[in-house]
Amino acid sequence: MSDAAAARSVTSAPQAARTLLERTCRGDRGARPPVWIMRQAGRYLPEYRRLRERVDFLTATKTPDVAARITLQPLERFELDAAILFSDIMTPLEGMGMRVRFAPGPVVDDPVRTPEAARALRVLDPEDATPFVLDALRLVRAELRDDAALIGFAGAPFTLFCYLVEGSGSKTFMEARSFLRAEPDAASALLRTLGESMARYLVAQARAGADVLMLFDSWVGLLGIDTYRRFALPMLRDAISEIKAEVDRPVIYFANGGSNLLGAAAESGADVLGVDWTLPLSKAVAELGPRVVLQGNLDPAALFAPRHELRAAIDDVLEEGSAAAAHVFNLGHGIHRTTDPDQVALLVDRVREHAESRRAG
Ligand code: CP3
Repeated sequence: MSDAAAARSVTSAPQAARTLLERTCRGDRGARPPVWIMRQAGRYLPEYRRLRERVDFLTATKTPDVAARITLQPLERFELDAAILFSDIMTPLEGMGMRVRFAPGPVVDDPVRTPEAARALRVLDPEDATPFVLDALRLVRAELRDDAALIGFAGAPFTLFCYLVEGSGSKTFMEARSFLRAEPDAASALLRTLGESMARYLVAQARAGADVLMLFDSWVGLLGIDTYRRFALPMLRDAISEIKAEVDRPVIYFANGGSNLLGAAAESGADVLGVDWTLPLSKAVAELGPRVVLQGNLDPAALFAPRHELRAAIDDVLEEGSAAAAHVFNLGHGIHRTTDPDQVALLVDRVREHAESRRAG
């Protein structure tokens, strides 16, 4: 067996969970919830902004040592339990035949608007199309603290579909949602291509060193439950089962704005459900049952509160999370770029102290 093949067979064997995040994702409640922050590598950090003066965003994502450095920046400041790869949900789409720019949000120059275009996308070959992502993961894994988890991620099929059809961000994604209705077969075909591609992409990330895999469904809250069951859930479920057939890694699924979809999302096969800040975690547990593992869900705006109010809001989320089988502390969506890093330091310390206060009490 070649060295590469040997490394692959080792990493795809069932693993003893090394990190607190992995153990928590698998349902073990440790001394405290692990803590990391969605979009933790980014513009609220002055060191990120300084680096970006010299390198544009796309180049940063495609240069492994730069992406690895940015990935590790938040962990140099805060005692986070995980690093999330610095990349973007749009990054792999180029390898499927689409052209993507950032301005600063994603822009697709030639959006998918016809059944022919929907069927023209090719399934991603991650080793061929995104070697820089896999190299960045390997570099991070080599430098990361052993007890910190490395999170690999992808966009969920529906959210990628939104950008590919709409062509850019939007409040309502009307083009994308009407394409579902006007061309349901072509739309489903595209969603399946995206699902299969993201499954391959995440498997490749796991083999390159990602301990935990996350799917971001940022725009799925725009769907009603019937449309979710028809156009989002089946492709998501297939993708997760393809991942699970290949690698033994926990999968986190975050359905932003999806509190009305959580019951259906629980059928996806994900190990952990991310919850946005609009739904108290105890309500999610009441709906999903006590065996569920949840991630979330401090309102990113709470980081703008005075420190004593922020502490109270963090304690609230910790208390709410105690209703679940296990809880990964996070924000209810990405951190805002004008957030004061000192408030993040307070958050991380507060969650870590939680274990101490529980032992004392
Ligand atoms: O720290 C991390 O979380 C890792 C890096 C990461 C980025 N994007 C970097 C980024 C992750 C996980 C993402 C995911 C992503 N990208 C999502 C899903 C998460 C969510 O927030 O719902 C979505 C919807 C995107 C699409 C995207 N990319 C948007 C909307 C934007 C613009 C953001 C803005 O605030 O203007 C981007 C660009 C982007 N992706 C930036 C970063 C750090 C800003 C680029 C810059 O430096 O100018």
